Amino acid sequence: MTCFPFLFGRRLDSATGDPELDDELSGVHNVHLYSYKELRIATDDFSPVNKIGEGGFGSVFKGKLRNGQMAAIKVLSSESRQGVREFLTEIQVISDIEHENLVKLYGCCVEGNHRILVYNYLENNSLAQTLLGGRHGNLEFGWRTRAKICIGVAKGLAYLHEEVRPHIVHRDIKASNILLDQDMTPKISDFGLAKLIPPNMTHVSTRVAGTIGYLAPEYAIKGQLTRRADVYSFGVLLIEIVSGRSNTNTRLPVDEQYILERTWKLFERKELVALVDTSLNGDFDAEQACRFLKIGLLCTQDSPKLRPSMSNVVRMLTGERAFDDRTITKPGLISDFMDLKIRNDPKPKMETNHTSSDYNSSGSNTLEHTTLTSEPSSHATTVFTPVYDRSI
Ligand SMILES: Nc1ncnc2c1ncn2[C@@H]1O[C@H](COP(=O)(O)OP(=O)(O)OP(=O)(O)O)[C@@H](O)[C@H]1O
Ligand SMILES: [Mg+2]
Repeated sequence: MTCFPFLFGRRLDSATGDPELDDELSGVHNVHLYSYKELRIATDDFSPVNKIGEGGFGSVFKGKLRNGQMAAIKVLSSESRQGVREFLTEIQVISDIEHENLVKLYGCCVEGNHRILVYNYLENNSLAQTLLGGRHGNLEFGWRTRAKICIGVAKGLAYLHEEVRPHIVHRDIKASNILLDQDMTPKISDFGLAKLIPPNMTHVSTRVAGTIGYLAPEYAIKGQLTRRADVYSFGVLLIEIVSGRSNTNTRLPVDEQYILERTWKLFERKELVALVDTSLNGDFDAEQACRFLKIGLLCTQDSPKLRPSMSNVVRMLTGERAFDDRTITKPGLISDFMDLKIRNDPKPKMETNHTSSDYNSSGSNTLEHTTLTSEPSSHATTVFTPVYDRSI
């Protein structure tokens, strides 16, 4: 394996054939560089048999590296220029950080037109495929496992938000980006959309990227990115894990379709326990489960300022920190905004995509997996300029 400084030492003119790319890569250290040949051998020439998923950036293959280690090999689709930038962002962001609840990057390949990321392989797939996608297999999603997953994801995000300098906003926290290892320890993946927040700024105004259903309203509508947008997405995910359902399911009766609306209504009626996954057959700690759902509501409040920081979320989840139910305000609902666009615009800019989540499909409606796009795309997560962007 090779590191970038060596790579640059080896080729005096250009490392990648693209001066812009060379420039960006020269700032990246401590990342192992794999040859395309090694990854081809590892995946049996990227055989469809070894394909384990497909997302916004391209296909993911399972492979065995030369040293015997199993790896998830994410091949970036070559036509996407945007994807290359995200690819580089991902390398820069994750090469330096390590945490029990974050996916480990082994290295990458940037040979010719190939852009490939190599991660540690996580045996138990993503929450989208397993818990929400109905492909449990032998996996047990009992209450204790769910609580461990929720707390683990919260810790990983608290680390990105509060311990890494400069702070990192993930921007795409969702069930398909939470992978599970052999012990059902959750690992947050996909830092491709992460943006480093300069320490002296409160938010980065940027084009919006993310996945409908998890997007904080202020981020989707105004493009204002703060850590509190991730807190919102985490809140949605938390409720999904406790309830065992996706955030949007148009097969359900109208007043149950959007998880946040449903959670709020049940909270107001003091019937939150009805939302807990029935597949647990009543075998759960009701006090803890309802606390988790209320924390989900705290995280998804309309006003970003009212949402707790992730370190406080960890303390609330573990019971170290109390909170007053009466302070919880109504969630911000992007679904209202979506409904409006879809109903009023026969050719909406926001397109429904068939994504990897459909590939993982639980058979529920595609709106669950809708992404915001500015042009037709097969990407699960993509970037668009929000409709109201210009007026703000
Ligand atoms: N490190 C890994 N170990 C095991 N499986 C993985 C790993 N990384 C990805 N996968 C599998 O590949 C699938 C596709 O991942 P990918 O991140 O490309 O897309 P996605 O998360 O579904 O969508 P998006 O592009 O919006 O993030 C995941 O859902 C997961 O099942
Ligand atoms: Mg992903």
